[in-house]
Amino acid sequence: MAHPVQVIAVTGGKGGVGKSNLSVNLAIGLAELGRRVVVLDADLGLANIDILLGISSSKTIENVLAGECDLRDIMVRGPGGIRIVPAASGTQKLSQLNTMEHAGLIQAFSELADDIDVLIVDTAAGISDTVISFVCAAQEVLMVVTDEPTSITDAYAQIKLLNRDYDMFRFRIVANMVRTPQDGHALFGKLTKVTDRFLDVALQYVGAVPQDDAVKRAVQRQKAVVEAYPRSRAATAFRALAKKVDAWPLPATPRGHLEFFVDRLVQQQIGA
Ligand SMILES: Nc1ncnc2c1ncn2[C@@H]1O[C@H](COP(=O)(O)OP(=O)(O)OP(=O)(O)O)[C@@H](O)[C@H]1O
Ligand SMILES: [Mg+2]
Repeated sequence: MAHPVQVIAVTGGKGGVGKSNLSVNLAIGLAELGRRVVVLDADLGLANIDILLGISSSKTIENVLAGECDLRDIMVRGPGGIRIVPAASGTQKLSQLNTMEHAGLIQAFSELADDIDVLIVDTAAGISDTVISFVCAAQEVLMVVTDEPTSITDAYAQIKLLNRDYDMFRFRIVANMVRTPQDGHALFGKLTKVTDRFLDVALQYVGAVPQDDAVKRAVQRQKAVVEAYPRSRAATAFRALAKKVDAWPLPATPRGHLEFFVDRLVQQQIGA
């Protein structure tokens, strides 16, 4: 049996709040701590991870499903030793898998499980079925919020949907683009104020990432900020977040097995 793999979905409802940057920098931070990390780019939008990091791959999950190659073959090496499963039209196709493909994907992921400790799933903005499926299939939900009314209301709406329709109740929160650590706490306070009032959910604060131009400069250079500007405030914050995430308890089996992630993912998408 494979060992448990921590599967973390990075989400948040609103676009442009910093999900992909968090996914990548957190992944590198965890890799620096000795974890073997894979980032699954589940975003088909424009600002996806291959663009963020200036990497490209010719093969997609579709090739895996067609039996033409292994998941290993489509993974791309990223900075800091992380590996990335690139976004592909295949991600969309996950919603229409037949039984054979379903089994094939589970097999592909379970073969991978032996050499990965953490799988970070970077989701697209919004609350499409695909986003919800990825989030529901993960064990940890990391929501990125910024101090804008639309970010808070979108995060709230996503939490409400996940709670009401999918029985999820535990959410981890990262405040991004804050001016001070206090602002991060205040932002978390704003969100819990509404969730405590209207929902029966548990929000856990992970920490904050400051608004830092180094992030923008790194994005322009198609690099992760922890690599391009390792001493920047944002990089320091990302590393601190990685330390916290590294200390999270590992999932208890069998829910923690990677093949169950895919299984739940597909179940969600076929509405089972
Ligand atoms: N901590 C930060 N400080 C300054 N700028 C930031 C920070 N985090 C993100 N940004 C800016 O926000 C932009 C969007 O970030 P990112 O692509 O990670 O967001 P996203 O939530 O993944 O977006 P999408 O919803 O489109 O996938 C980045 O290109 C960067 O310029
Ligand atoms: Mg993104």
